[in-house]
Formats: sequence, C-alpha cells, structure tokens
Amino acid sequence: MFIAFEGLDGSGGTTQIGLFADALRAAGREVVVTREPSDGPVGKLIRAELAHGAVGDAVFGHLFAADRRDHLDRVVLPAVARGAVVLTDRYFLSSLAYQSISLGLDRVWALNAEFPPADAVVMLDLPVDTCLARVEARAGVRDRFETLDQLHRVADAYEAAITRCRRRGDRIVRVDARGTPPEVHERVRELVWPA
Ligand code: TYD
Repeated sequence: MFIAFEGLDGSGGTTQIGLFADALRAAGREVVVTREPSDGPVGKLIRAELAHGAVGDAVFGHLFAADRRDHLDRVVLPAVARGAVVLTDRYFLSSLAYQSISLGLDRVWALNAEFPPADAVVMLDLPVDTCLARVEARAGVRDRFETLDQLHRVADAYEAAITRCRRRGDRIVRVDARGTPPEVHERVRELVWPA
C-alpha cells in the first residue's frame, strides 16, 4: 500500500503523516515514512537549489522527476514489495501543481508519465490564508503579497492537476484540513484506513 499526502505549504502534511504512521504502527503494520524531495542524492540537490535558486524552472521539472525515479526505486517500491505501508509527503501531484505554473500541465504530465499512481492520495484542503499564516508563524516571510499570490496560483494548479488525474482514474481523497491535528487525523483515518 502506497499513500501520498499532498497540499499547499502549511496544510499540515508532515504532522498528519506522523499521526497516521503512529496509528498504523499501533495496529501492527510496518510503515515507511518518506518524502519528496527525497533524502537521496537528487533530492539533496533539489533542496540546495530551492534555497539558492541557481537553476531554471525546466531544470527543476527534470530534477523532481529524476528524484522521483530514484525515490521509487530506492525506497518506495522495495518497501511496498515486502508488504509495508509507505506514506510519502508529496509525490507527482506536487510536480503537476507546482511545476505546471511555469512549464504548463502538459509538459509536466509528460515528464511524470512513467510513475505509477499511488493507491491513494490524501489531499489536505486548507484555505490559502490559513496556510500562509502557518508558514509565516514557522519562518518569517519576506514578501507577503508575492507569497499569497503564489499560494493562490499553486491552489489553482492543484485543482487542474486533480481533475486530470481523476480522469485517468487516480484515487484522490480530499480531506478538510481545518481544525486541530487530531481532528484532521480522524478524518484521514475514516477515509483512507488500509484494509
Ligand atoms: P516541502 O514538502 O514543503 O518540504 P519542507 O517542508 O521540507 O520544506 O517541499 C519543498 C517544496 O518543494 C514545496 O514548496 C513544494 C516543492 N515541490 C515541487 O515544486 N515539486 C515537486 O514535485 C515536489 C515533490 C515538491
């Protein structure tokens, strides 16, 4: 079982993955928690470039896809093969949302065509201003308007990407991410608890 958590920055994916992993482990399942950008060589390169911004948008599109290939081969597929539940903080829907803003959805779709859909995607839905408030509380944000504008763009891009993935048959579960972490966790459990 392979489950991806998605959402805007600040929507609570990392917290919810932790709670879901704890619950699954308490029920006796082996759980692997992972993330993209991954902790592998390409993921590390991406994190460094996200901080310095030396490469262009198209290169990022390729780097995210290369990291995804590495992440699947090195972490996700071996764990799924031995029966573990794999929870990833972001997967290709993040590329379809974030990279499509500059590259267009068709181009990013093509770059990600080889990747198998997760068994379920948990999309944490949280209003843009709530996300921004959380991100700001975590670390000072320089240009509030630019960030708000960008978050709105990402939110719109997620909608387009979700529509396209659902048309193909991907299972995307939308969860209301407002409220306390335990409240949201209960919603996630109800909707995607593996059999
Ligand atoms: P994020 O999960 O927010 O990492 P952290 O919480 O450790 O900073 O991911 C970092 C950023 O990378 C985030 O803004 C979304 C972006 N991203 C993409 O643009 N495309 C992708 O394919 C992925 C996986 C992430």
